[in-house]
Amino acid sequence: METIFNTARLREIVAEWRRDGERVAFVPTMGNLHEGHIALLARAHEVADRTVVSIFVNPIQFGRGEDYGTYPSTLEADQEKLSRRGLDVLFVPNLGELYPAGTEEDTRVSVPRLSRILCGKFRPDHFSGVATVVTKLFFSVQPDYALFGEKDLQQLMVIRCMVDDLCIPIEIIGQPIVREPDGLAMSSRNSYLSATERAVAPVIYQNLQAAARELTGGNADFRQVEGLCLERLQSVGLKPEYFSIRRTSDLVEAELGERELSILTAVWIGNARLIDNVQVKLDDGG
Ligand code: PAJ
Repeated sequence: METIFNTARLREIVAEWRRDGERVAFVPTMGNLHEGHIALLARAHEVADRTVVSIFVNPIQFGRGEDYGTYPSTLEADQEKLSRRGLDVLFVPNLGELYPAGTEEDTRVSVPRLSRILCGKFRPDHFSGVATVVTKLFFSVQPDYALFGEKDLQQLMVIRCMVDDLCIPIEIIGQPIVREPDGLAMSSRNSYLSATERAVAPVIYQNLQAAARELTGGNADFRQVEGLCLERLQSVGLKPEYFSIRRTSDLVEAELGERELSILTAVWIGNARLIDNVQVKLDDGG
């Protein structure tokens, strides 16, 4: 595995692969890798001949007062994990490489129709920050495929929307959520949890499952289900930002009669803001 810090060198290597007719997959990350990231890499190996993973903690997707300064950096351990899994190239650009004009008045990419709801309501510039850096990374790597986790479902949809709107010729592949044995969705931010917080954290997924059971059991009062789950999360000391039943196709608030639903939540536990979701398909009788 080669670790590359500079875009020009990366482009040379990818161009060589392309000359040989090889297909290239790309997995963008912010590092501190866990099994969720590794599942993306495994899928990349299945769909393409060559894979590039990037590690870059992107300042402009963090709001003021968020954890940009303290986001865990574990490059050596990450390199070890990736090379063990047969990665071709790890791309680790520095700030100047991706933001030659700085981060104050530079060009941005925004996806307004998905960026103001759910997480976007609480993190107003977040998705524009993600769309901007992913665009830059796409132009740096120029892959055939790019892989994203359904753990960040809204992010995945923002990226799909962006490549459609901007006519970017990259196929976006979504991957199911990888969970700990007790159901907690794997996340780099789980390391912020104290032992006590970690012990209650599975209640997030438990409530998503409980809501899904209500829906498949025929409860059509979506707002009541949301309210109940919000109360249950609060009752064990968590601070939910939202717990919401949405139409899967566009994440608009679900109304009666909708069949393909996503239940999404963002919850604060101590200093950690965790997100999770489940998808539900109701059959015609449901
Ligand atoms: P990061 O949080 O490092 O996540 C990188 C990728 O791993 C994302 O596509 C995310 O959805 C996926 N992922 C994380 N946890 C997962 C889990 N438990 N199961 C499945 N997939 C999981 O998301 C980002 O970085 C950044 O916003 C980025 C896209 C790199 C742009 O900066």
